[in-house]
Amino acid sequence: MIFWRVKPLDQILATAEKKGLKRQLGPIQLTLLGIGAVIGTGIFVLTAEAAQKAGPGMMVSFVIAAAVCGLAALAYAELAAMVPVSGSAYTYSYGVMGELIAWIVGWALVLEYAIGATAVCVGWAGYVNGLLNSGIFGLVKPGTLSLPLWLQTGPTLGGGFNLLAFLIGVAVTGLLVIGTSKSARVNAVLVAIKIIALTVFIIIAVPAVKDANLHPFLPTGWGNPVGSNGIGVLGAAASIFFAYVGFDAVSTAAEETRNPNRNVPIGLIAALVICTIFYLLVGYGAAGSVGAQPLTSATGAFLDPGTPAFAAACGNSQALVCSREPLAQVMSTLGHPRVAVMIELAAIVALPSVILMMMFGQTRIFFTMSRDGLLPDVFSKVHPRFFTPHVITYVTGIVVSLCAALFPVGKLADTSNAGTLLAFAMVSIGVMILRKRQPDRKRPFRTPLVWIVCPLAVAGCLLLFVNLSVVAKVVFVVWAVVGLIFYRLYGYKRSQMSPEKMAHALDDVV
Ligand code: ALA
Repeated sequence: MIFWRVKPLDQILATAEKKGLKRQLGPIQLTLLGIGAVIGTGIFVLTAEAAQKAGPGMMVSFVIAAAVCGLAALAYAELAAMVPVSGSAYTYSYGVMGELIAWIVGWALVLEYAIGATAVCVGWAGYVNGLLNSGIFGLVKPGTLSLPLWLQTGPTLGGGFNLLAFLIGVAVTGLLVIGTSKSARVNAVLVAIKIIALTVFIIIAVPAVKDANLHPFLPTGWGNPVGSNGIGVLGAAASIFFAYVGFDAVSTAAEETRNPNRNVPIGLIAALVICTIFYLLVGYGAAGSVGAQPLTSATGAFLDPGTPAFAAACGNSQALVCSREPLAQVMSTLGHPRVAVMIELAAIVALPSVILMMMFGQTRIFFTMSRDGLLPDVFSKVHPRFFTPHVITYVTGIVVSLCAALFPVGKLADTSNAGTLLAFAMVSIGVMILRKRQPDRKRPFRTPLVWIVCPLAVAGCLLLFVNLSVVAKVVFVVWAVVGLIFYRLYGYKRSQMSPEKMAHALDDVV
């Protein structure tokens, strides 16, 4: 039986009251936290990858990924409003499907948040290194400000230690230890910067769209619904899904939110809707204004972005699909070099807000797993002055920073997506189970058309998962196996729900 040790929802709420965090976030802060976590590497960098996989059809990929996220957001909102505590999908699974499933989901969320944060640290460092290498747009002689090559990338790309990726991870860790509200204020400013940058992009690119640039619309087809290793509209949707990842981080802040039953659904849905509108306009503007046809080999075969063959085919090409900074590239191609620079700077300033939210989510999930006894108790210590889970924040920060210094951004986004898709599917299943098991429980937010929305959300997650790159799927399976072994050796015995702990709790009562 896999559904063992289901933790009663009332007990989850009581534990959170006892060992709680300070409630200081309102609906606007929460929405801004969501947008801060969402708009980042996906739109600023992976747009080029999506174009290579699907051509102008990537616009459909943006819609498919948004639809899957939207369905999952409706399910998230119901559970987050009912169980407004730290831990998100992990906690909901514990209360509905039991400890084993909760552990698997919590473990998968590490992929989503930590690998996601690591990927964004590396992406940010790429932008800053580019800026330094250019001599800050010719202010000084190009190369004067460049870091030594071995400090520019990790070992797999011919460097040694990606110093800037490491430093941004450390800086964000510091912000998180100081406290949520201070971090949220910084986040609000960064969100404003990226909203302005994307708005300017849309104002310039959308009027420049030409019909001819959108043909052929589907040069690589739809992809295979049972698995495509990343090709076609479905493959691009599985990758660009990363651009939407992070809105669920709002729910991990539930325990620090005032009136969470109302504010968490508002934050979740508002953040997703705002980001989706921007993405669709940016995708349309990018593909339609400069063209987005994929690069093929001499024999006309599909080239997988990120591979040496693709890099060789790109050479010094200025094509959208070859760019590491596609939105700036579009502005430059359209004859707006100053706006291109502004977009570059905005990406450099804005990406840290994404790292902030991803690491925030990660620490809150570890905090909750530790409170449940599945990870060492020291991780759920709260700082006496800042009211933040400082120990686990330090541990997460060190791991993310070191990984960012050593690993390439490559398929990291896909790997992060694999973990996220599992969590989304589990939340949607959890909503349905709970509607059956506890139909009368108070639901401040109810998923509309639940028996259509939730099955569609699960099917959508499955569809995107099978269309991820093979590497990401393999890493996901290996990670899951390691997690199960760890659970059997540690969490299974030390869980607050283990028979020994439950017997002690009973003794205390008697
Ligand atoms: N959605 C976030 C990004 O695109 C993770 O960077």
